[in-house]
Amino acid sequence: MSLLDDLKNLVPRQAKRTIRSAQRAIRTASAPLHKRLLFGNLASLVPPEPLMFDGPPTYLEFKRNAQEFLRLYVNRYGLEPNERILEVGSGIGRKAILLTKYLNAAGSYDGIDIVRAGIDWCSEKISRKHPNFRFQHINVYNRQYNPNGTQSASAYHFPFSEGLFGFVTLQSVFTHMLPADVANYLAQIRRVMAENGRCLISWFLLNPDALRLIRAGKSTLPFIHQVGNGVWTTKPEEPEAAIAYEEALVRKLYEQCGLKIKDPIDYGSWCGRDRFLSYQDLVLAFGS
Ligand SMILES: C[S@@+](CC[C@H](N)C(=O)[O-])C[C@H]1O[C@@H](n2cnc3c(N)ncnc32)[C@H](O)[C@@H]1O
Repeated sequence: MSLLDDLKNLVPRQAKRTIRSAQRAIRTASAPLHKRLLFGNLASLVPPEPLMFDGPPTYLEFKRNAQEFLRLYVNRYGLEPNERILEVGSGIGRKAILLTKYLNAAGSYDGIDIVRAGIDWCSEKISRKHPNFRFQHINVYNRQYNPNGTQSASAYHFPFSEGLFGFVTLQSVFTHMLPADVANYLAQIRRVMAENGRCLISWFLLNPDALRLIRAGKSTLPFIHQVGNGVWTTKPEEPEAAIAYEEALVRKLYEQCGLKIKDPIDYGSWCGRDRFLSYQDLVLAFGS
């Protein structure tokens, strides 16, 4: 035991409780200031930490993630300010917020999600100031995010007409969805993509490299429970918590939907790789 532990043991339990509640009170009271310092004039668009159901619930992580993806969209995947974007699984606006500074009046952003709280926040805060940003709640079932959803993802028709979007993106969405649902969503994505459009989707892809790292205990997520042909989870009792797909199956699904993957795929660090672009694997694809 360290000297610090010895000293901590000398502090009476009641005093520890008082210190902890004082720390909490300071954190709560300083949150608006912290948010303002991090986000400047975008602060009013950023949800309070307790509302961040769609990823790490801290302002700092929210900002880092928003910056990382804006950089990737623009520098790596060539997003232009005048493009029409569709984000499926837009959450609480983590990716949308910085795009409000990047898209111009000719560009637009549509977000759909199955969690009403996220859509309501984004509509009220983002769309009100930026009418070319629109958010729609879709009542699709997902055991983790929308257990009362009335529509099935395997049959859901996206509420957009054909060929509308130049850039369709899904981050950390197919990593929570089962194969029949993913197959339908890919077909829908292809349908709403413009002729020269593209889609950027994140996955946990199982290939020899990822499997070797998982076996060696290097992965942040141990996908060792099979839930279907080529589909694996970390938690058999709650598969949608995290789902990985064998890369060969994903390639087949894209081909079946008329989507052509741009190789090489930008593999992620999730399984313990030394060289990576982001955390999840990022797959860019065009219409074929
Ligand atoms: C891990 S969060 C990621 C949120 C956001 N894409 C991001 O990267 O910041 C997963 C999101 O996908 C949404 N989602 C899950 N299943 C969905 C479905 N079938 N259709 C649309 N969105 C879905 C959830 O509600 C949640 O907002």
